[in-house]
Amino acid sequence: MLFTHLRKSSFKSGLLFMLLSFALFTNGCFDLGEKVATNGDNSMDPEEAPTWSNDIAPLFAERCSPCHISRSDGGLNLSTYENATSDEQIIDPGNADNSVLVDRIKGTITPRMPLGGDPLSAEQIQNIRDWIDNGAKDD
Ligand code: HEC
Repeated sequence: MLFTHLRKSSFKSGLLFMLLSFALFTNGCFDLGEKVATNGDNSMDPEEAPTWSNDIAPLFAERCSPCHISRSDGGLNLSTYENATSDEQIIDPGNADNSVLVDRIKGTITPRMPLGGDPLSAEQIQNIRDWIDNGAKDD
């Protein structure tokens, strides 16, 4: 009885050990992959940097409409580059952390935007932040 109990528990811990080593092993692989991919350089690949025309304008059109596209709710219109960047408190070129728009999509200023809709994804928020940090250019 005691013997079978021991065998069972050592089988269990053997299995646990295998799972743990597998987790560590795969984790190690991902780490390696990331290091190779970024090559220790954190600057953004220009090919991947979000642009107004490819990323930001389509996102605003999809998620901020109609309130800030055909209307100007809260005094804010995002339908053109000129309108979107006319107030440096809303979008501060080069400084996403100082941009009210970023606080609104993160929800650190309430109500969170898009008002009444699903929050933007982490990737969409990061794209907007990167575009602003890169100078909020008309690119
Ligand atoms: C359903 C309508 C609606 C949608 C969709 C919407 N907003 Fe708004 N937004 C408002 C209203 C209404 C206000 C003003 C009231 C307030 O400040 O709470 C506002 C205010 C804001 C402000 C603050 C403006 C200021 O002068 O301080 C920002 C920035 C903003 N929205 C960004 C966005 C962004 C970016 C999106 C899309 C990702 C979005 N909103 C989607 C309705 C909307």
